[in-house]
Amino acid sequence: MCGIVGYIGPKPVVPVILEGLRRLEYRGYDSAGIAVGGSRGLELRRAPGKLRKLEEVLHERPVEGTYGIGHTRWATHGRPTEENAHPHRDCTGRIVVVHNGIVENYLALKQELIAEGHKFITETDTEIIAHLIEQEMASAAQTGKNMVLEESVRRAVRRLTGAFALVVICADEPNKIVAARFGPPAVIGLGEGEYFVASDVPGILHHTRNLYFLADGDMAVLTPEGVRLTDFEGNHIERPVQRILWDPIQAEKGGYKHFMLKEIFEQPRAIRDTTLGRISLDTGKVFLSEMKLTEEDFRRATRIHIAACGTSWHAATAGKFMIERLARLPVEVDYASEYRYRDPIADPNALGLLITQSGETADTLAAQREMIAKGSRTIAICNVVGAMITREAHGVIYTHAGPEIGVASTKAFTAQLVALFLFAVHLAQSRGTISADESRALLEELTLLPGKVEEVLRTIDGPCEQLARTYSTASDFLFLGRGIHYPIALEGALKLKEISYIHAEGYPAGEMKHGPNALIDEKLPVVVLATQDRSNRDSRLRYEKTLSNIQEVTARSGKVIAVAVREDEEIPHVADHVLYVPQAPELLLPVLDVIPLQLLAYHIAVRRGCDVDQPRNLAKSVTVE
Ligand code: F6R
Repeated sequence: MCGIVGYIGPKPVVPVILEGLRRLEYRGYDSAGIAVGGSRGLELRRAPGKLRKLEEVLHERPVEGTYGIGHTRWATHGRPTEENAHPHRDCTGRIVVVHNGIVENYLALKQELIAEGHKFITETDTEIIAHLIEQEMASAAQTGKNMVLEESVRRAVRRLTGAFALVVICADEPNKIVAARFGPPAVIGLGEGEYFVASDVPGILHHTRNLYFLADGDMAVLTPEGVRLTDFEGNHIERPVQRILWDPIQAEKGGYKHFMLKEIFEQPRAIRDTTLGRISLDTGKVFLSEMKLTEEDFRRATRIHIAACGTSWHAATAGKFMIERLARLPVEVDYASEYRYRDPIADPNALGLLITQSGETADTLAAQREMIAKGSRTIAICNVVGAMITREAHGVIYTHAGPEIGVASTKAFTAQLVALFLFAVHLAQSRGTISADESRALLEELTLLPGKVEEVLRTIDGPCEQLARTYSTASDFLFLGRGIHYPIALEGALKLKEISYIHAEGYPAGEMKHGPNALIDEKLPVVVLATQDRSNRDSRLRYEKTLSNIQEVTARSGKVIAVAVREDEEIPHVADHVLYVPQAPELLLPVLDVIPLQLLAYHIAVRRGCDVDQPRNLAKSVTVE
């Protein structure tokens, strides 16, 4: 959360920074600001609200220069006002800072700095960083030291606790940008005579594909001559230059009205790419090449702990069904934000699994560290190559969904389900709980999945738009499912509430009669996941019970929107509306179930005039706890 872009080079600085911020706006959009250094010293412009407000301010009061930094904010400390918008300054206005993260000891530092005579004008934690640097620069100046800004930033960051990616410029040392990272991500872009810093790759990918990914404790100094990397002690360090292969166009809307819609329609490709090169239909084997764990490690494991947040937690909960069913290993699923506060029982025989699109969610990273501290090996299912969580994991399964820009996760979710399925089959093979024939049959079904998703997208978009016309004014929604379909009901409810602001709840269908039935009346739309795998006895049983639950809803005048397989003969008689998907094995049905729910949420949000890609109060990567 919060997007940062910095640039030093021959191009006009403001357009480079604004363009980068626009591509990073998914990280936060409560306010935006820019600081540029040039012949008139440092000039700042800031505005509350989205980036376009800042653009209006810049139109009225332009700035120009040879280097600069910009920020788009997701508010943590302090309301989203102009005053609290980044960049922030010290008392002299000569030191300017943008920051992503939280300074946990800011109150103690603020009191100390106030006692030294510093004056604060904002409610933010970031402002103390500018004053700390000012304080350090003042004492360094007294000793006549060289590299004053760099050294002062280094001393200042050593005093901070919490998480930060910060970028600093100073009027006294023009044409220099200093960046430091501890926690939230920061990448450095290496161009021809021009250098960039950003919170994430899409912010600078249009200018260069050659990047350094800063690690925790790294600092970078950018000048027109190049980039120097050090640690927080000032020791020179080397980081490999990584070349980013994905196409910047992947991070564009490509003719769709919203990123979310484009990403929903990209799901067949995301699933194909996540499967590609990982299965052999001849042997029925799954190959997970980034896995540093051996088959023996998998045989020895006595249980699996999964930790994740939000949509990734829903994938985790569906993954529990896959792993327990196929590999016969008990699985516990935790909200990552809760995991380390319950003193979990983890040990070297427990495998830790972290599921995260961004790979930088602070809670998930904290859960991973807790697992590792207790002796567990960890595996990350992640969509971002080289993200923090992947670096600390013993094994990685990348979901190849491509960049996900819409704040509401869609293609990353279905790619996570596929990665979990591959992992479950792999684990089951290692543990000998499924035969080669069973495994081959499952993998063959997996290869059919992208085509089935294409079919759903082709046939269901229109009906979902129609339903949105009828139900977009509802004030509440219920989503019901049983077994592996229950987490998908939760996901349907989350999608609807986050982008349309309609109150929605996901519930296990069988639990309705234990309380929530009291909510049902003729105004309540109830979305029921009633797909089934007819070849599977458990699936048929679950389906029959779900059918009874639908009757219970209609008997109380609730409006049922059912998701069912195309061949279903009973659902059309009991539900008010049916959204059809093709047949698939029970463990793969969730991938098909969720697509109508994504489209329904999307069309309802559009009809309600909501900001689909950037819903209020949210941000894409949650790098604070
Ligand atoms: C909802 C959504 C969030 C994320 C959650 C975890 O649409 O996107 O609930 O799933 O913030 O993020 P990652 O997967 O990046 O750890």
